[in-house]
This record gives sequence, C-alpha cells and structure tokens, in this order.
Amino acid sequence: MSDEITEGQGLTGGDSQAPRSTPAGEPVGPEVRRVPPTERGAVAAPVPVPPRPEKKADGLRRTAAAEESDTNIWRYSRRDFFAKLGWLSVFSFLGVMLIGTLRYMFPRVLFEPSPIFRAGFPEEYLPGTVSTKWMKDFRVWVVREGNRIYALSGICTHLGCTPRWLEKEDKFKCPCHGSGFYRTGVNFEGPAPRALERVKISRAEDGTILIDKSIKFLYENGGWDNPQSYLSV
Ligand code: FES
Repeated sequence: MSDEITEGQGLTGGDSQAPRSTPAGEPVGPEVRRVPPTERGAVAAPVPVPPRPEKKADGLRRTAAAEESDTNIWRYSRRDFFAKLGWLSVFSFLGVMLIGTLRYMFPRVLFEPSPIFRAGFPEEYLPGTVSTKWMKDFRVWVVREGNRIYALSGICTHLGCTPRWLEKEDKFKCPCHGSGFYRTGVNFEGPAPRALERVKISRAEDGTILIDKSIKFLYENGGWDNPQSYLSV
C-alpha cells in the first residue's frame, strides 16, 4: 500500500495503535484507506444561475461615472455636514434680521377716528332732552338743559361699560353692574364711584357745535364750572 494521498481522497481513522509491517517484515505507519468522495458527504447539485440581463446599448445606458456619482449623493463627511449647518444658521439669522428690519419700517399703527366732531346746530337740541344721536359713532350724549348744552361721555366710571339712556326713568343705567346716573351725569346708585365725565364743547366758525372728546371735565374737580364744559345758547 502506498503512503501517497491524492487529491479527492481522504484519511479515515485507522487503528494507529496496532503495529503494522510489510510482508518483508518492515514496519509501516497507520493504514491509509482510500475513501471515495461519495462517502464523505453528498455533493450539492449545482444551482442553475439565470443569465444576467444585458444592459441595453441604447442612449439610456448610464455610464459608470454617473452611477458612481449617484451612490455618492448622500455621502457627506462630518465636516461637510457641519459646514452646511453653519451656513444654514447664518442665512437663517440674516433672514430673521431682514424680516425684523422690514417690520420696523412698517410699524403697526392703530388709526383711530379723530376725537373732534361736529354735532350739528344748537337749535337741533330741544330743552330738557338727551340726544343719543352720537352714541354709536362717538360714544357721547348731547344734553340740553335750559339754555345750556353739554356733552356727556358714554363711559361708565365703574369699569367702562356703556350705560343706556332710559327716558322714562330719566336716568342713565349701566347694564353691567347697575350703576345709575342722573341726566346731569351725577351718579346716585350702584358701584360707580363718581359722575360721568363731560367733554369739551364749543362752537365752530360756521355756528355748529364742535365736540372734543380728548378734553374732559370732572365733576368732583369742579370741572363742570369750566366754560369749555358747556355751551350757552
Ligand atoms: S361698569 Fe358700569 S356699573 Fe360696572
């Protein structure tokens, strides 16, 4: 028996302890048995591989460089990422500053109507009457008593609600907390702490009544005695 082991052959476990020798009596090594490949395990049958589709040789074929660039689209290094983040922060800051500057150039202004308005001629107001004609637009009553005309502010001196003129009861009544005022404007019931305010009244050059809501006269300060707080007719 030859000691040479060829490819495709294997060694099986011979009895290494038993002494062996040639017919001539020369000792030999462990017995080597040729093992056919089929005994060492089943060899898997080759799996058929479908042929790869060939790329079309038309104009749609992409070059290797293009495919390489596509795969690199989303590959950013950390340095690139922070550089882009830095630029984004800079442009965001500049954008906010620009918006703030533009808003500064166009400030929000609340345009209110002028506090001065014309209220017609004195002859339009009969003695002993309270006119509510200007309440809706200017929140002012025009009251005539005898030969005096004065303008009462329609703002309750408690918390600022708008009282109502109750002609039958001859008083102003606030719907919020029940304060009551005489036609003169003096408070007499409810939580209102003081009388209604009167506003400046005068005559314009054309003889019409001119009322200025920005100038007020308070009863408790003696302001109702001011000649600008009433109009003599
Ligand atoms: S707001 Fe007029 S009584 Fe309170």
